[in-house]
Parts: sequence; structure tokens; C-alpha cells
Amino acid sequence: MSKAYYLTKNTDSDKAFELRDHSLPSLGIDDVKIKVHSFGLNFADVLARRGLYQDCPPLPTVIGYDVAGIVSEVGQNVTDCKVGDRVVALTRFGGYAEEVITMKEGVARIPNDLDFGKATALATQACTAYYCAYECLQLHKGDKVLIQAAAGGVGTILVQMAKAKGCYIYGTASSSKQDHLIKIGVDCPIDYTTEDFEKIIKSHDMYGEGIDVVFDSLGGKPFKKGYNLLGPGGKIAFIGSASSLKNGKGNLLSTINMARGFGFFSPIQLILNSKSICGVNMLRIADHRKQIFKHCIDEVVKLYENGVIDPIVGKEFSADQLAEAHAYLEKRKSIGKVVLNWL
Ligand SMILES: NC(=O)c1ccc[n+]([C@@H]2O[C@H](COP(=O)([O-])OP(=O)(O)OC[C@H]3O[C@@H](n4cnc5c(N)ncnc54)[C@H](OP(=O)(O)O)[C@@H]3O)[C@@H](O)[C@H]2O)c1
Repeated sequence: MSKAYYLTKNTDSDKAFELRDHSLPSLGIDDVKIKVHSFGLNFADVLARRGLYQDCPPLPTVIGYDVAGIVSEVGQNVTDCKVGDRVVALTRFGGYAEEVITMKEGVARIPNDLDFGKATALATQACTAYYCAYECLQLHKGDKVLIQAAAGGVGTILVQMAKAKGCYIYGTASSSKQDHLIKIGVDCPIDYTTEDFEKIIKSHDMYGEGIDVVFDSLGGKPFKKGYNLLGPGGKIAFIGSASSLKNGKGNLLSTINMARGFGFFSPIQLILNSKSICGVNMLRIADHRKQIFKHCIDEVVKLYENGVIDPIVGKEFSADQLAEAHAYLEKRKSIGKVVLNWL
């Protein structure tokens, strides 16, 4: 029997997980079974551990969305990959495991030069970035773009995608990550922990045109500021609400405060200024629009092959260091992808 790390308590990372025997359901005709080499962390995993993620199944449960490894079995309807293929895959929870079963639309073959750790960034984070930047908001050459948490997993890939489209990028991150923002090509790095990003961007906007696109993973007041920065025709993608956490902690009150920060929106404002708001939950897309998710994961692999994106792995841990890896992500130390390896 294979093993998996179970989330057993909503608490600090060193007390939250247990390595247990893990039995998988029987393989469905549309499923793929994978021997996992590496799995990736997402910020949502931290929220799930803290009990702040509403989609998380009841405890004890195995969380985790991103795996990369070798296909070990396929259902009879699976034609896109075969036993022995190297793949990246989205799991709908269940990713912190030596073996996983997932839907065929969540799986894509990866090239031999892409190592398993880096590949994990292509599942949730790159697909989210792709769906927002290329499907929903459709970046254009010359767009002025604001990317919040630009040094993170989703953020670094958004930067690479926006660069490839010839956009001008305002990117925010906390103080220690500013040099990294410059390194990855952010045109105007902003330390949003010490500076007001809205003021800085307005001071650059000599003709009062506003900016074209905002990717917001913070929610609340920062979302409202981002929305206010948009010029006519501007678009904002809302993908997360990290601002509801303070020092890694959040509760009902901090969620209410974050929600109040959004202020009031009327669809009439959207028409008058021709602005768009796009809410994205990639897991809902994977559940309800499987073919679209499949398109995204295939496209991000192609973008890697064509040199448009190259996921940045900030730090790799061995699987038995899961607690340290979680704390590292929660304490805002990470850049790019945080990866764990079984092998
Ligand atoms: N909607 C979707 O389908 C979807 C999918 C994937 C991710 N997301 C969201 O996108 C965001 C990025 O996800 P990710 O997995 O790539 O994580 P990440 O960006 O690698 O890590 C989260 C980063 O958020 C920043 N942050 C800002 N305010 C924070 C706060 N109050 N507490 C903690 N961190 C804060 C930190 O960067 P700094 O130190 O630079 O501030 C931190 O490193 C998250 O909000 C996540 O929930 C949404």
C-alpha cells in the first residue's frame, strides 16, 4: 500500500500532518494513475491547513493539487497518455501522496528536459495564470499590467506571460523579493508592504489614462485600488484573498474586514467606464469545464516547450519536510514554486 500525508488538524504545520497508509479508489474508465515523483504546494494549501478554505474536504484528508511523475495505469477511455509517460497533473485534493488517481483532462505529458519538480508549477499555478491572462483578460502588446504578489507561484508565471506579450509590468511583492522582481523583468517593482502601489502607479500615469489589466490575488482594499486604477476598457481578474491573513493567521473577523474593503460595485459603473471584473476559480473550471482545463494544461506545456514560460522553483524539500515547506510558504519566504520530492 502507498503512503500519503494526511491533514489531520487545522493548526501550525508541525502538528497538522501525519504520514499514513493510503488506499486509492479503483481506477475509472476516464482516470489516470500516477506514481508521484514530486508534488507542489499552493497558497490554498496553507488556507486549507488553517481551516480557512471552504472547499477542503472534512479532516482527516489528503490535500494537494499538483503532482508530476510517471503514469502507472490508465482507464480504457484514456488516449492522451500511456503507462510509462512522464506527466504533470492536477489532482482535486489527494496530491500529497505517493500515488494518485486523477481525471484524464487534468493530465498532460511533459518533455524529457522538464524535471518533475519544475513541472508541478504547470498544474494549478500556470493553468490559473494562462486562463486569466490568455483566455479571460486577453493581454495585448503594450498593455500596462499590475500583477499582485508577482514573485509568487502564479505571479512569476503571469510576469513571464505578460512579458511575452510585450506588456509593461507593475509588480508588487514584499521587501526581500524586490531584487527578484527586477531579475524576472518587472518594469516597475513595488514593495506593497511599505509603499502605496496606487499612489506610485498614479504618479507614473502622466496623462491620466489608467492601466489596462490587473491580476489581483489579495482581495479587499487592494482589489478596490486596483479596480480604481483601471482606465476605460480595463479589466481585473480576481483570483484570491491573501489580504485576509495577518502573519499567517485569519479568522471570521479578518475575512469580514477584507470583504468590507471591496466597497460597493454596481454593474452600471462597469458599463459607464467599460471595465470588466473576472472572478476565476480554476478548480471550478477543472470540475465543471474539464475540456477547458485540458486545453489550459496542454497549452502551458507548449508554452514551456516554446520558451515562453519557464517556472521558477524557489525551494525544493523532501516529502518528509512537509511541515517546513508549509511554514516557508505561510511565512511569505517563498519565491515561485515550492516543491516536495518523494524520490
Ligand atoms: N482562483 C484560483 O483558481 C487560484 C489558483 C491558484 C492560486 N490562487 C491564488 O493566487 C495567489 C497566489 O497563489 P500561489 O499559490 O501562487 O501563492 P504564492 O503567490 O506563491 O504565495 C502567496 C504570496 O502572497 C503574498 N501575500 C500577500 N499578502 C499576503 C498575506 N497577507 N499573507 C500571506 N501572503 C501574502 C506573499 O508574497 P509577498 O511576500 O511578496 O507579499 C506570498 O508569498 C493566492 O492568493 C492564491 O489563493 C488562486
